[in-house]
This record gives sequence, structure tokens and C-alpha cells, in this order.
Amino acid sequence: MEHLIKNTKRQSETKIKSTRNLKDLEKVYIEIFGKDSLLTNLTKNIANLPKRKRPKHGQLINITKKEIESLFEKKRNSLKIQKPKAIIDITRPGQKQPIGHFHLVSQAIEEIVAIFSKLGFSLQSYPEVDWDWYAFESLNMPKNHPARDDWETFFVKTPPDPKYGQQVLTPHTSNGQVREMERVKTPASPRGGQGGPPIRMLNIARCYRRQIDVSHTPMFHQFEGLLIDKKVSISDLKGTFDYFTTRFFGPQRVTRLRPHHFRFTEPSFEVDVTCGVCLGRGCRICKSGWLELGGAGMVHPKVLKNGHIDPKEFMGFAFGWGIERTIAMKTDLPDIRLLYQNDIRFLEQF
Ligand code: PHE
Repeated sequence: MEHLIKNTKRQSETKIKSTRNLKDLEKVYIEIFGKDSLLTNLTKNIANLPKRKRPKHGQLINITKKEIESLFEKKRNSLKIQKPKAIIDITRPGQKQPIGHFHLVSQAIEEIVAIFSKLGFSLQSYPEVDWDWYAFESLNMPKNHPARDDWETFFVKTPPDPKYGQQVLTPHTSNGQVREMERVKTPASPRGGQGGPPIRMLNIARCYRRQIDVSHTPMFHQFEGLLIDKKVSISDLKGTFDYFTTRFFGPQRVTRLRPHHFRFTEPSFEVDVTCGVCLGRGCRICKSGWLELGGAGMVHPKVLKNGHIDPKEFMGFAFGWGIERTIAMKTDLPDIRLLYQNDIRFLEQF
């Protein structure tokens, strides 16, 4: 019997020691002191002992119970004290939040705006879903004209307006040209027209075309410049491009104008920039040494008329370039679709 009591005590001690939280400790308590526990059974067994042995064993069991109880008490207290161990250690270095940065396209937009604002161009914004009139017809592209095919347009299924025609997702930022002429003409306009030219507009917007491959995404961005004044020449246009390219791409890159055709400019050009890899000598990437930046030209008199500006008094130039393409030419991106795959491993490099 004495032996059994000692054993129960030892077992209880190990169990209490090995518990790690208060919940487990209470479970162990029930195991030891519960109805069917060893200790309870030992107490019950006293009745079966010869009378003279009963007091001694009774006492021994009571002492053991008290000892175990006090072990419980100690353990309970120590587990309760453990909690505050989780108190914040203010000497540990803090956890840094990962810091992001603007997307490449937003970075380029900021840079482009900053460069052109030095030349006095102010940023305007025009609708991304616009009337056929602004996107095509006012730009000297009559309905059903084959030149429209170049713009791979998405049409919006809404009833056409009798005057402005159907709505389209703007395939270029040139829809801002006649809108800007109208804005400056109207002194009462909320964005403060001064009654007419001069105009120095920069219009940056999303554009949409039915095209996708290494150099096209169905949604992309363009920046459009429009300058209208009394005397404007092609050398002003060329000078503007040179200013932009040397600042955006670096002083070693130069531009050239190549004759082209747009219905809304006369004469029209394509603007090329020397390749960033070979700097114009010709390499595997560019072949000729030149990369195409975008379209430009002197504003067509019909477009000025559509914007209620007298072509006898005023003239100007316009250009429209893709932002993604411009980025690709600066960073030697092989595929502009990378810009929209949201792969952090790619984006965090810039
Ligand atoms: N809108 C033309 C395009 O998307 C570019 C352009 C703009 C050409 C202005 C001439 C003048 O290709």
C-alpha cells in the first residue's frame, strides 16, 4: 500500500511537470483527483485494510494529496506567469513593411509630363470612350474611309448620335486634338479656355486596339502633343523631339523624320530614334540602327477648321506615341506584354 501511494505521487509529479499550458494542467488534475483516479481508489481501499493500519495509511494519503495539490498550485502559478513572457521586446529590430514603387508605365508618364512641361505643354485629359467624330471624322477620316482600318477599333454598342456618330474605345489620343481646340476657344469652359490659340497640349490616355503580340497589347497608353500658334515650322517639331529624346533616352540618342501619311497631318512623318543597343550602327535587334517611335506631322487645315480655328491665321504640329513602346526602347524590353503580366520579379527590377 505504501508503495502504491509513493508510485502515485511520482506519476503525478511527472505528469504535472510535463504540462505546457493551463488547459492541459486541468486535465491532469482530473486524472489524479477525479472520481475514478488512482488517488481516489487508494482512499476507498483504506476500508479494506485491517483496522490498526487504517489511521497510518489515511494520514499518508492525506499528506500525499496535499503535496500533489501544492505541486499543482505551483505549476498553475508558473503557467500564469509565463504569459507575460510574450511582452514585446522593444530592443528587437522592427519588421519592415515592404516598400513598393510606381509601375513602369506610371513612372514613364511622370517623366514625360515633366519633360514636356519644361517646354510649356500642359497636361489635359480627354475621354477614353469617345464619339466617332472626335476619334476619326474630325481628323479628316470620313465614314468608311479605308485609312480607318489602321486603327483596329473597338466599337461600343450604343445607339449612334445623329451628329457625333457611334462611340468607340479611343484607338489613339488624337481624339483630344479637336476637343482641345474647342476647349481653348470657349472662355467659359470649366477648364479655362483663353478664347483661342496658342495651344500647347499634352494628352496622355489609355488607348485600345484589336491587336496583341510582342509589340502590341489591346490596352496601351499614348501621349499626344499638340502645338498651335501663328508661326510654327517643321523645325519646331524636330527641335521638340530632339529635346524630348535627349532627356528621356539620354544625350547619345538622336531622332530622324521619315515621310509617312496620316489623314490629319500634312506633311506627315514617322519619328525614329537611334537604337539604344548599337546607337545607330545597326544590330540584330534594330537591323537598320533606328527604332520607330510614333507618328507626327503638321496639323491638317481641315482639322483646324473642325476645331473652329482659322487655318489662314494659325498652324501647328501634332505627334502621338505609344508609352509602352517608348519604355521598351529605353529599357530594351523584348516583349511589351511583360508590362501587364503583373509578375513582381519583373516589375521590381525597375
Ligand atoms: N494618332 C496617330 C497614331 O495613333 C499618331 C499621330 C498623332 C500622328 C498625331 C500624327 C499626329 O498612330
